[in-house]
Amino acid sequence: METRHYSPLDHLVMNVDQALRTLAGKPLVTERPNPAQARADEAELSESEKDESIRLMRVNHCGEVAAQALYQGQALTARLDGVRERMERAAEEENDHLEWCEQRIRELGGRLSLLNPVWYLGSFAIGAAAGAAGDKWSLGFVAETEKQVIEHLDEHLRQISEKDVKSRAILEQMKVDEAKHGATAKRAGGAELPQPVRRLMKLVSQIMTGTAYRI
Ligand SMILES: [Fe+2]
Ligand SMILES: [Fe+2]
Repeated sequence: METRHYSPLDHLVMNVDQALRTLAGKPLVTERPNPAQARADEAELSESEKDESIRLMRVNHCGEVAAQALYQGQALTARLDGVRERMERAAEEENDHLEWCEQRIRELGGRLSLLNPVWYLGSFAIGAAAGAAGDKWSLGFVAETEKQVIEHLDEHLRQISEKDVKSRAILEQMKVDEAKHGATAKRAGGAELPQPVRRLMKLVSQIMTGTAYRI
């Protein structure tokens, strides 16, 4: 198969395009339907239940913006021999998550985090740095990120009302996908990150989630 070579300018244009799609427009999604569509059995939520769902789904949406930026940053610098295609599929699935969360937030009458551009830029830089550190580390970084995301999703599933079946259906599917992404990255040779790096990642995600819950 012929490999296409892109110039640095091509890469710049593609990255700006991706960033704008993620933040404002239509991200490149997969063929999968929104899992919330299959759930018509939604009970009426109280104002406080609705508010909590909006906040938590906003945190998840913000996490998916960051995930998208991480993948894009990583794709720019990493070699990813033999796994690039699978990682690109994973990035597309993150876009599904992005869209499903946004749809749910809008349905509930909420808004997205105002700081999404900040998280995008920061995460893009972190992804590019991880990619430059070498595939074993950047894949290890994906595996660790997904592990931490799953912990968040579990926490959110405990916090979101049992009545909010639509948000829950989205989060359950996300959990399945993130576990798959993490396993793919590990199988492709992702190394276990050093403890201080893992701790730093937890700290950054705490700041991000704490902020997106409010702003
Ligand atoms: Fe995701
Ligand atoms: Fe993921």
